[in-house]
Amino acid sequence: MSKPFIHIVEVGPRDGLQNENKIFSPEMRVQLIDHLSECGFSEIEVGSFVSPKWVPQMANTDKVYQHIHHNPKCRYSALVPNERGMKDAMAAGLRCVSLFTAASDTFNQKNTNSTIAESLETFKHIMDVARDQEVRVRGYVSCVISCPFEGDVSPDAVATIAEHLFKLGCAEISLGDTIGRGTPHSIEAMLKAVMERVPVGNLAIHCHDTFGHAVDNVIEALNQGIRVVDSAINGLGGCPYASKNGERAKGNVATEAIVAALEEKGYAHGINIEALGCASAFVKEWIKF
Ligand code: HMG
Ligand code: MG
Repeated sequence: MSKPFIHIVEVGPRDGLQNENKIFSPEMRVQLIDHLSECGFSEIEVGSFVSPKWVPQMANTDKVYQHIHHNPKCRYSALVPNERGMKDAMAAGLRCVSLFTAASDTFNQKNTNSTIAESLETFKHIMDVARDQEVRVRGYVSCVISCPFEGDVSPDAVATIAEHLFKLGCAEISLGDTIGRGTPHSIEAMLKAVMERVPVGNLAIHCHDTFGHAVDNVIEALNQGIRVVDSAINGLGGCPYASKNGERAKGNVATEAIVAALEEKGYAHGINIEALGCASAFVKEWIKF
């Protein structure tokens, strides 16, 4: 019997570039996304409508979105932290946005200058706009295994936030192992707790590869029934506010590694390997030098 289809959400143009020291021009970001649009991803995160004082790499996401070639088979989304971001995203024409909070208050404070409770209050207002404008909303929970400031995070704390986002109306909740501390064992325990409160069909996994466990962690998530996987071309990325000692969070799990693992395990994925190779070469030549 053939294995199920796995949807890949390519987060390189957002989670990848937000953590690069170099700021890429909107034109370069458009070129990257246009390459990625040929690959067959279910969704591409094109950028963020956050404060350019906090994340200058993501300034001009409106221009980027407006200049990419939209593949009708792909969803294009961007991060939105507050009502101002939502307003800008709507003005730019986005039809899909992603909210983000965490299972750790200290991380959330450092990332968005607000407590988890304050974030969730803000999201209510964003969801009102989203419902009104029929915009799809994804919700991120960061630090689902461990927080760089508070240490281990309990599966129950993750499940509580995930359930809250689901009840607010998020179509999908992406569970982020922000600093890559997860192992297949801890990922399994976390997912079991979350799946008691949110249907597995509304969940995605988002692994960073700090300690080299990300591919194994994603495979464990698939074993648990997850069918949506976030990854970044060439393993770009990380959250600039996940750093404790001045070291930045290491990259996301590489899309190339996820596709190879899916092939090996016999999962369908819909990715055009040749187009992925072209996108990968583009990143190697233009971004990672
Ligand atoms: P704040 O400083 O508390 O905001 O930041 P404020 O409301 O006091 O405003 C400060 C200034 O920012 C003002 O400008 C606002 O107008 C402006 P000024 O008057 O000083 O000139 N401002 C904005 N400008 C553009 N767009 C906006 C916006 N909002 C305010 N939306 C804020 C609060 C949330 C804005 C800030 O903390 C922020 O932008 N944080 C974003 C941090 C971020 O992007 N982190 C990375 C993404 S999360 C991640 O990577 C994790 C994930 O990958 C999952 C995982 O791996 O775990 C998703
Ligand atoms: Mg991330």
